[in-house]
Amino acid sequence: MANRRKFIAQAILGGLGVSIGRQAKAAVQLPFSGKASEPTVISTWNNIKSNKKAWKVLKKGGRALDAVERGVQVAEGDPDDMSVGYGGRPDRDGKVTLDACIMDEVGNCGSVCFLQDIKHPISVARLVMEKTPHVMLAGEGALQFALENGFQRENLLTEKAAKSWEEWKKESQYQPVINIENHDTIGMIAIGEDGNLSGACTTSGAAFKVHGRVGDSPIVGAGLFVDNEVGGAVATGLGEAVIKTAGSFLVVELMRQGRSPQEACEEAIRRITSKQKNYKEFQVAFLAMNREGAIGAHAIHEGFMYALSRGGEHQVMDASSFL
Ligand code: GLY
Repeated sequence: MANRRKFIAQAILGGLGVSIGRQAKAAVQLPFSGKASEPTVISTWNNIKSNKKAWKVLKKGGRALDAVERGVQVAEGDPDDMSVGYGGRPDRDGKVTLDACIMDEVGNCGSVCFLQDIKHPISVARLVMEKTPHVMLAGEGALQFALENGFQRENLLTEKAAKSWEEWKKESQYQPVINIENHDTIGMIAIGEDGNLSGACTTSGAAFKVHGRVGDSPIVGAGLFVDNEVGGAVATGLGEAVIKTAGSFLVVELMRQGRSPQEACEEAIRRITSKQKNYKEFQVAFLAMNREGAIGAHAIHEGFMYALSRGGEHQVMDASSFL
């Protein structure tokens, strides 16, 4: 199946300068003019609502940074999304702890990790970027900073998430779940009308993790990396595996060296599968876009998908996979 996907992609996309695995048909449906300034939003998994929100910002000529912040806020506020923000599954102690980071077109970045009781960690991360000389705030300090800046304390543990924790406690086995309900972490990259790129990444992290565990999502270069001269990349799946390979930075650096986004995502997944012998036991996926708007997406296991918005249309696309 993966080979068939590659073949179709290569055959059709060769002429478009776009490399996106099995998504050749969709690339035709969402035509890309080849202009660097074609506004585009991509995000991990199938959160079309988040993409639509981001698209609204871009449509009005807004900044990509605003688009990605507002876009991922939708997932953060959705109680049915049990991998991000409000409604996220708690850690093994029953606490919902959130990680997020954001990066703009000039390399500024902000991040929060192990943050509790704040519904929109992405907006706290943006404030860290814009109002402090730092990049990352953690735990109590991040919470204090959020409260000082007008964020409200809220209980993020929904009844549904509490129930899943009660269920988990019966066995208390920590086992990463592959493609958990198809929405894991949301990572989003956008290009605005002005051709500038920004990215955001936000998650409640691995379900039932050890209290205090931080994944890849708030780590610039792991869960997210943007370089306006090259492109941007985001990661989803098992954070530990992504951190070990500085995944998103690796994808962007491979694009800098001339690889297409698809080739770069495939090489980053290959790096993981060649160095981490237990790779069949977990999922990692990368999603990338270069500054010309070409897109790549690749995962270890089948089942990874991403949302693409371009030209006012929104679609969920299947990604190719190593296995
Ligand atoms: N990729 C999200 C996490 O592992 O926390």
